[in-house]
Amino acid sequence: MTDRPVCDYEGSNYQDDFWGKGEREYEDRAEQIALKAMLPKAGGLFLEIGAGAGRQTPLLKNFDHVVLMDYSRTQLEQARERLGTSTRYTFVAANVYQLPFKPRVFSAAMMIRVMHHLVEPLAALKEIKSTLAEGGAFILEFANKQNLKSILRYALRQQSWSPFSPEPVEFVKLNFDFHPQTMRQWIREAGFEIKAQRSVSHYRIGALKKIVPPTLLAALDGAVQPTGEWIQFAPSVFIKAEVRSQESGVRSKSPRDESNLHAKRPTSIFVCPICKGELQKESDYFQCSACGKKWGIRNGIYDFKEAL
Ligand SMILES: C[S@@+](CC[C@H](N)C(=O)[O-])C[C@H]1O[C@@H](n2cnc3c(N)ncnc32)[C@H](O)[C@@H]1O
Repeated sequence: MTDRPVCDYEGSNYQDDFWGKGEREYEDRAEQIALKAMLPKAGGLFLEIGAGAGRQTPLLKNFDHVVLMDYSRTQLEQARERLGTSTRYTFVAANVYQLPFKPRVFSAAMMIRVMHHLVEPLAALKEIKSTLAEGGAFILEFANKQNLKSILRYALRQQSWSPFSPEPVEFVKLNFDFHPQTMRQWIREAGFEIKAQRSVSHYRIGALKKIVPPTLLAALDGAVQPTGEWIQFAPSVFIKAEVRSQESGVRSKSPRDESNLHAKRPTSIFVCPICKGELQKESDYFQCSACGKKWGIRNGIYDFKEAL
């Protein structure tokens, strides 16, 4: 669908292999602390981008409706198994570069542990911004190249790339670390205003994780996360941004107003991801009235990954 390569998790056991063995309980809890501090307290329609198996989705319990979107259909199937078949959730397979959503339908969004797979962050950020209501919140996690471990490795000449230079580093194919300053620049260029920053997972050190219980280590991390407002040396950075108003200081509608309209009828939020044309709903597919492409609905998943 786009020429941009995608890190495809189709068929992957990411949730069980990466999180299910208990070795990353500290990181999981530290991320929850950051999210609880940064997520809006409540809202209408929420978009989780690259939701995977829905690891952090339960934190969104105060939103009226949550759209879990991911490139991988099997990740979404796992999310549905984990979260249950509540009508609070809609599952959508799509590519972040070509989102199948009408402009400004979501009151808030988050994207956790996905940015590090993206070759064109700015293009993705602009696409996400277009789906958010004015003033809508966006919580973004990204991997920080300027972390203490990489600074140390660079100083000891164990690493060739500089943690201080602005360009992303692709340390493994389709796995990128970013400089916080560059990421902030892209976020602003996409039309967001940065409201808060947290640095997360300061204590991602094997020896420490072996001796300190994960709950305590995560609590200690939570205590230092707010320093991310000024300086970021942890491997993970969380940013809370908001869609900038068109006219400075004036909001035409609160994000909740607009998204509530759609929360009642979530299927009316879709457009063709390719041409952004209107969709006609048939029994088990949508058809674009502009370009004619058909998009399937399979196993309760709205599938905008490939046209039928
Ligand atoms: C490391 S997992 C993170 C999953 C979840 N956010 C979490 O924190 O547990 C990355 C997820 O991003 C999804 N992803 C990668 N590239 C994507 C793209 N271009 N569009 C949509 N999803 C993408 C993958 O399918 C995968 O589920």
